This record gives sequence, structure tokens and C-alpha cells, in this order.
Amino acid sequence: MQGKSVLLIIGGGIAAFKALLLARLLGQAGVKVTSILTRGGSEFITPLSVAGLTKQKCYTDLFDLTDEAEMGHIELSRAADLVVCAPATADLLGKVANGLADDLASTVLLATDKKVLFAPAMNVRMWTHPSVQRNVRQLKEDGALFVGPTEGEMACGEFGPGRLSDPENIVRAINDALSRDTTLPVAAASSLAPSGAMAGKHVLVTAGPTKEPLDPVRYIANRSSGKQGYAIAEACAGMGARVTLVSGPTHLPSPVGVDTIRVETARQMMTACEEALPADAAIMCAAVSDYRPDIETEHKIKKERGGLTAIGLAENPDILRTVAQLELGRPKLVVGFAAETDDVVSHAEVKRRRKGCDWIVANDVSPGTEAMGGDNNSVILLSDDGEEVWDHMPKAAVARRLAERVAEVIG
Ligand SMILES: Cc1cc2nc3c(=O)[nH]c(=O)nc-3n(C[C@H](O)[C@H](O)[C@H](O)COP(=O)(O)O)c2cc1C
Repeated sequence: MQGKSVLLIIGGGIAAFKALLLARLLGQAGVKVTSILTRGGSEFITPLSVAGLTKQKCYTDLFDLTDEAEMGHIELSRAADLVVCAPATADLLGKVANGLADDLASTVLLATDKKVLFAPAMNVRMWTHPSVQRNVRQLKEDGALFVGPTEGEMACGEFGPGRLSDPENIVRAINDALSRDTTLPVAAASSLAPSGAMAGKHVLVTAGPTKEPLDPVRYIANRSSGKQGYAIAEACAGMGARVTLVSGPTHLPSPVGVDTIRVETARQMMTACEEALPADAAIMCAAVSDYRPDIETEHKIKKERGGLTAIGLAENPDILRTVAQLELGRPKLVVGFAAETDDVVSHAEVKRRRKGCDWIVANDVSPGTEAMGGDNNSVILLSDDGEEVWDHMPKAAVARRLAERVAEVIG
């Protein structure tokens, strides 16, 4: 241990005074000890006594300008060979297990590139609490080391596991840890890189209805809920794709890991899609209004001011056809959706050819099918290879199956 350095983080527990003994034992063994005392810890011992024993500055504040200038918190987290947290309170364990960093100690514990050895100490009920045990399991899974707690009579008078391991025992655990490589593998970063059949691919998905305004309070729209498109975006992201979801107005939350762009009208959706390209695949699931009112008044249309006896319509841009027929930068695979109420397959196949997309997912949205707004869907996949009838299944299952098929083409 001679010549090694340890960053000692002292939490706010009744056993904090034992950290002073630990610091002294480490010093006697030739270990340089730098320390952080939490706000809770400084209710039990003072930074002055820690600094006196370690002969090093004791850090307490994340936002201390002088400390940050002298030794930034990131540097502090990395300068030592090992980080030791003793006593590790339920609070500190919980913060680190859940990625919280609201003070110097927890920030350093997350920012460090060195192994962390926790020496927990707390009341037996706290230690055996399912949430504390869950956090400990998580930390162990994440590669943290533990020493103790031991069993015995506690300061609060109760008996059981939760006592801080003896300082001599903690020194032995530190010695053990220091005799091995204490650098955390950089693997964490690469394990966050997307993996899966669509890793490195960009998929554009559209979803939901469009709203075509007539005046500031009225609009033409349709019954699309967006559920199928959102499920597809989520499935593609789950397979590692970078996903841009261009969504008309829905009540759905943005799927995790998906870049969601919210629009109202077909024209806005067209612009958002153009801006999102290039993509490896475009899955156009939105129920885009073919037409919009050919007027849009600034003020609400009033009966008393003449009202309206008819609504003239103007054609909206055809997003699917535009993307499918791009000469430059056409996605390798363009998938359209056809919601039909009669002659589903023949109408959908006509649409596939007219638009120039590779596949059409046809679904029967006639009254009684509950496909519009519901959680299940019955679809038929149409391509140059013919038609494939899929079983009636949840929209999430349709999404996963479709994403797998798309991955086979673009992966
Ligand atoms: C007298 C007293 C003793 C405490 N002892 C412990 C303890 O041994 N272990 C623990 O996890 N929390 C203990 N706590 C609660 C912590 O001090 C509290 O959760 C605090 O927020 C911990 O902050 P820290 O983890 O940032 O140091 C104690 C509180 C008091 C008032």
C-alpha cells in the first residue's frame, strides 16, 4: 500500500468518527489520504479533524470556487488509486445506485474512473430495507466493492447487521483492492453505443393524424391515435437505430431514445420529413390528410358575419410519394401504410404502385375492427414478393415484426 493514494468519502452516519481512525491507519501504512466530508458527515466530525489527521485538505463543497480552481472535482475523483466510502450511508448508496449527483461526494462517486469500495453503516432496519438491498445489489452489479457491514450491537441500541466494519478490516479490504487493477474499464462507454440489428442506421417514422386548420379553433383531422407509428419507432430504436419520429398531434409520450418532432399539418410534416432525411428506411405510418381547407381565417368564423356554407379544399403534399420517388437520397426502403375500409388488399396494392413505395402495410380500419385508436391490429404486408397476411396481434408485436423485416433489408 506504501505510496498509494486513497480518496476517503465520509458520510453522515454515527460511525463517521471511525473514519478518523481509518484515516490514521492508512497514513501509518504509507497511504496518502485525500478526503471528502459530506454535509451529513460534518454533523458528526469536522473537516478540521479530518484534515489534521490526513495532513491533506478535506473537501466539502461541490461549488467551491477555490477548490474547483485548485483541484477540480473531476480531477479529485481520478487522482487517487482507489475511492473508499466509509461510512457509506443509505443515502450515498442510493444516490450512486441511481445515478444521482447533487453534492461533491455523489458527483465524485459517479465521475471517478477508479474502483469504489463501500463500507456501509446504518441501523439494522435501514440496512435490511428492500430498497437499500436493491441498491447494494445494483452497485455490486456495476462493479463496486463492499466491506461489511458486520453484525452486532448498534449505537441506537438495536442488534443486527449494519455496523461499520472494523477500521482494521477496512484497511485489509483496501489493501486487497489496491493489489489489483483499480481502474474501471472504459467499456462502459462502448457498451452504451447502440447495438442490434439496426445499429448505425437512421430510420424515419411518421405517425398520428394531421390537423388542417380552418380558423383558429376549427380543423379537419382524422381518428388516428399514433399508437402503431410510435410502437414502430420504439421497436426500431430498440434494435439500435437512430430514429426520427415525425408525429402529428397525439397524446402519446415520446418513445425512449427516439428524436420526436411534433407537427400539426401535412405541410409541416412534409418539411420535417425533408429535414430529417437522409435515412436508411422511411416508415410512413401517419394518417396524413389528403386535403386541407383552402381558406384559413385569422379570426373565428362567425354565423353573424356570414358564416360558411361550404368548405373548399386544397390538396396537401403527398409525403409518401415524395419520399418514395426521390431521385437523390431516397431511403433504401420506403414503407407506406394503407388504412382501408373495403377491398383492403387491392386498394393497398394500387396505392403501393401509385406512390412508388417498396412495401405497403395494409390494414382494415372499417367500423368494428377497432384498429383506429385500439391496441391491436390486423395487417397484410404487400411487396413485390406478393402479400403476407399477419395474425391479429398487438400493435407492439406488429411493430417488432415489421422492424425485424426492415432490418433484414437495411441492416
Ligand atoms: C444521529 C444520526 C445518526 C445517523 N446515522 C446514520 C447511519 O449510521 N447510517 C445512515 O445511513 N444514515 C444515518 N443517519 C441519516 C443520515 O445522516 C442522512 O440520511 C443524511 O442525509 C446522510 O447524508 P450523506 O449520505 O450525504 O452523508 C443518521 C442521522 C442522524 C441524525
